[in-house]
Amino acid sequence: MAKQNIFDNETFFEGYKTIRDKEGNANDLFEIPALFSLLPNLENKSILDLGCGFGEHCAKFVEKGALKVVGIDISEKMLEVARKENSNPAITYLHLPIEDVEKVEGKFDVVISSLAFHYVEDFDGVVKKIYEKLNEGGSFVFSQENPINTTYCGDIPRWTKDENGKKLYVNFANYAVEGERESEWFVEGIKKYHRMFSTIINTLTENGFIVEKLIEPTPTDDILQKFPNQDDLFHKPDFLLVRAKKNM
Ligand SMILES: C[S@@+](CC[C@H](N)C(=O)[O-])C[C@H]1O[C@@H](n2cnc3c(N)ncnc32)[C@H](O)[C@@H]1O
Repeated sequence: MAKQNIFDNETFFEGYKTIRDKEGNANDLFEIPALFSLLPNLENKSILDLGCGFGEHCAKFVEKGALKVVGIDISEKMLEVARKENSNPAITYLHLPIEDVEKVEGKFDVVISSLAFHYVEDFDGVVKKIYEKLNEGGSFVFSQENPINTTYCGDIPRWTKDENGKKLYVNFANYAVEGERESEWFVEGIKKYHRMFSTIINTLTENGFIVEKLIEPTPTDDILQKFPNQDDLFHKPDFLLVRAKKNM
C-alpha cells in the first residue's frame, strides 16, 4: 500500500513548521491539551510514539517520568529536528513508517500517535500491529483529523459564508465514501485517507481494544476571548482523539 512522505517536501515542511511555531496554533490550543489529558500516568512506563515529528511529545513523556520512549517517523527532516531539539538518553528516534511498526523491538506500556493516522491507508493493519506491540492492559492514545475534515476533497468550497464573510455552514459530501482524498496545503496533491467515525471505532473494538474515551475539542470561553475565530470549531471539530485499552 502507498506510503506518503510529504513532510520531506521542502515547501510543505517549511509551511508546516511556520504554522507550528505560530502562537495560538490549533495544536497548542486544542490537540495537545486533549492528547495529554487522555494519557495514563507515565511514571516508569515505556512509550512508543508513531509519527513523532519534531519529538516534542517524546521529550514531554520523559519529563512526565517515562523510562523509555521510542519515536518513529517516515520523514528524515522531521527526525532531524527531533534529534537536534528533543534528544534525551531515554529517547530513541527511528526512521520507520508506521506501517512497519512490527520492526520496532520489544513491547510497550503506551502507544501514542498524534495527527499521523489520516496519512495512513491501512488503518486496520496498523491497529492489529499496535495491539501486538502493547503489553497486556496497555493504553493506545491517538489523535487524527476529525472524519468531518477528512471527508473533504476540495471540489467544493469548504464553507458557505454570508455577505460579510461570516462562516455559516461547512460543506461536505460523500462522507460514506471512504478512502483517498487529495488536498492542497502549501503544496498540491497531499494524500489523506478518510474513514467514517464508525469504521475508526469498529476497527479498534474488532481488534481487541476497549474504547474508553473520545474527545472532539471545542474552544473554552478563555480561548474564544483571545482567538474569536476559533468559534469555527462549533460548526466542525477539526480533531478526533481516542483513548483505548488493550483488552486483557
Ligand atoms: C502533523 S505531523 C505531527 C507530528 C507530531 N506527532 C506532533 O503532533 O507534533 C504528522 C507526522 O506524521 C508523520 N507521518 C505521516 N505519515 C507517516 C507514516 N506513514 N509513517 C510514519 N510517519 C508518518 C509525518 O512525517 C509527520 O512527522
